[in-house]
Amino acid sequence: MRSLVYAANWKMHLPPAEARGFAARFLELTRPAEGRELWFFPPAVSLETTAAALNTRPDIRVGAQDVYWEPKGAFTGATSVALASGAGASGALVGHSERRHVFGETDAETGLKVRALLGAGMVPMLCVGEKLAEREAGQTEAVVRRQLHAGLEGLDAAALARVLIAYEPVWAIGTGRNATPPDAAVVHRSIRKDLAALGARGRLPVLYGGSVNKGNVLGLLAEEEVDGVLVGGASLDPEGW
Ligand code: PGA
Repeated sequence: MRSLVYAANWKMHLPPAEARGFAARFLELTRPAEGRELWFFPPAVSLETTAAALNTRPDIRVGAQDVYWEPKGAFTGATSVALASGAGASGALVGHSERRHVFGETDAETGLKVRALLGAGMVPMLCVGEKLAEREAGQTEAVVRRQLHAGLEGLDAAALARVLIAYEPVWAIGTGRNATPPDAAVVHRSIRKDLAALGARGRLPVLYGGSVNKGNVLGLLAEEEVDGVLVGGASLDPEGW
């Protein structure tokens, strides 16, 4: 049986007091389970609180939603890998579609962030995915391949083995539309080929994200290609999550 990864992206929600409340309720409701890993990506100001509140659970890891690649210095507003780590993060999202398409992050910048995280022994969760116009133009696999290459090119197999991938079609994020499980599986298969071409050995976890909720999650996870989910809106309520 493959292991599954459930990742919660809280985006710009849950300040420290609410994050603490979420964690307390979540710990009451859940127990660790064999073959299941959980990640929480709180906003930077809630990282330390969330990590501290959940640190009794070895199956739970906490990560930053974004990091900057420079180690320190005059970069107002940015969070370095060391700052995130000091607050309890053991990884970070990289290249989330909102970073790419709201804040203008480039493919090259995602590559720098992946390397900064790996250099510090942390886990990058590299997010890739096409926009609606790209899908309609038949460019999905090519766009995803370009993003994977920019993020991962030149890494050796040992470094690649520490990376998680999240396939999130941009048109499915926060829209209530999601890829059908077979559609997601097609792209996941293409991602695995790209990863092999980049030098990955063995199976890297490839998660699906975009309007995942308790009504559609089982169908997605029933696809052998889908190793877990990255969830925004539906991760904010400890009962449903
Ligand atoms: P959503 O967000 O579940 O609210 O669509 C997913 C994500 O952006 O990671």
